[in-house]
Amino acid sequence: MHRRDFIRVVGGGAILAATASCAPAGADPRAAWVNPGAAETDIRRKALSFAILAPNPHNMQPWIVDLSVADEITLYIDHTRLLPVTDPFNRQIVIGCGAFLELLVMALADQGRTAMAEVFPDGEPQPLLDRRPLFRVRIAGAATARDPLFAQTLQRRTNREPFTDRAIPATAVAALDASVPAGPAVLTIETAPARVAVLRDLVYRGAVIEAHTPAAHRESVERTFIGARDVATHPWGVSLDNPMMTALNAAGVLTKAKMETPGTTAYDEALKFLKTGADTAQGFVWIVTADDSRASQIAAGRAYVRSNLAAAAQGLAMQPWSQGLQEYATQKPVYDALHKDLAPGGGRIQMLSRIGYPKAPLRPAPRRGLAAQLRKA
Ligand SMILES: Cc1cc2nc3c(=O)[nH]c(=O)nc-3n(C[C@H](O)[C@H](O)[C@H](O)COP(=O)(O)O)c2cc1C
Repeated sequence: MHRRDFIRVVGGGAILAATASCAPAGADPRAAWVNPGAAETDIRRKALSFAILAPNPHNMQPWIVDLSVADEITLYIDHTRLLPVTDPFNRQIVIGCGAFLELLVMALADQGRTAMAEVFPDGEPQPLLDRRPLFRVRIAGAATARDPLFAQTLQRRTNREPFTDRAIPATAVAALDASVPAGPAVLTIETAPARVAVLRDLVYRGAVIEAHTPAAHRESVERTFIGARDVATHPWGVSLDNPMMTALNAAGVLTKAKMETPGTTAYDEALKFLKTGADTAQGFVWIVTADDSRASQIAAGRAYVRSNLAAAAQGLAMQPWSQGLQEYATQKPVYDALHKDLAPGGGRIQMLSRIGYPKAPLRPAPRRGLAAQLRKA
């Protein structure tokens, strides 16, 4: 195996690109993306079949849904699916729940139902999530307006590939701006080359720090599955299962142990891949909230998925780049620099993503499927 065969490894976020199609052995880990909810008769389950396609940190899909009360959907957290090192206060996990809620509300609207959402109905858990629900949605009978962004749900991706050098036009910037209604989560998109250059550097610094922080790096590697068979049995986490990755894994070149070990090709190429990703960003999108309450984190997740859908509608792709926003000690220099630059008036940057035009279509990320996430009676 030559080093040039390895050009798709991503460390830090511990991601490899997976663009080529490949039929894994056993169940299709991407089945949830094909006609979601088509076989469901309960409108709640039908809507939830879209909500589980929400972007969420490390694709942990930490969702437990309770349907025991008629016309209600209550979301709890699966405490076995958290990210204790890179998300020590469960902030990012809650953001993913906000994205889930937004898709759920949109999917219900698509079925002509109004959803009344109450977040943290039994109070906000701080500093860590506990057994209380994250939100409760009550379904009202009245018809409501459909959201045009919902049509992008199956096209939306997190794209870790290098982007093309095509600049982002003002019309696309305006579409992203318009995708987030006025509220607690404020979205900004930056495409000016000089500013983008500063942010490329900062996000890459965050990724390098993560790669050199063993506990954080290990958390990502542990949640990475390599090869078609491994991904088919683990339809969550980060999946490296295109034919090249599967072959490299079978040859013993790309393994979790090597991804964790500085000096191996897997580790070094991961950093190069991250550098290319950062350097091909044509813009950055960030979301700031005035405080870091749980309600603000939910609002940030709702805003994030809306911007991600709006980007898809414009033919653009996004990738969150979260390392520098994380709370563990070694990130402090990048965390402080990002906040000084992007939130000079105060507030918490909840999401920061690169944006650009994709080079090629991507397969969707695996999903566990709704049945695995329904609370057993
Ligand atoms: C709060 C949050 C933080 C994320 N941070 C990163 C990140 O740092 N790097 C990255 O590549 N993806 C990041 N993602 C994207 C997830 O990894 C992605 O949503 C998940 O793997 C599922 O893939 P999908 O969005 O294509 O469905 C983040 C998503 C959320 C909601």
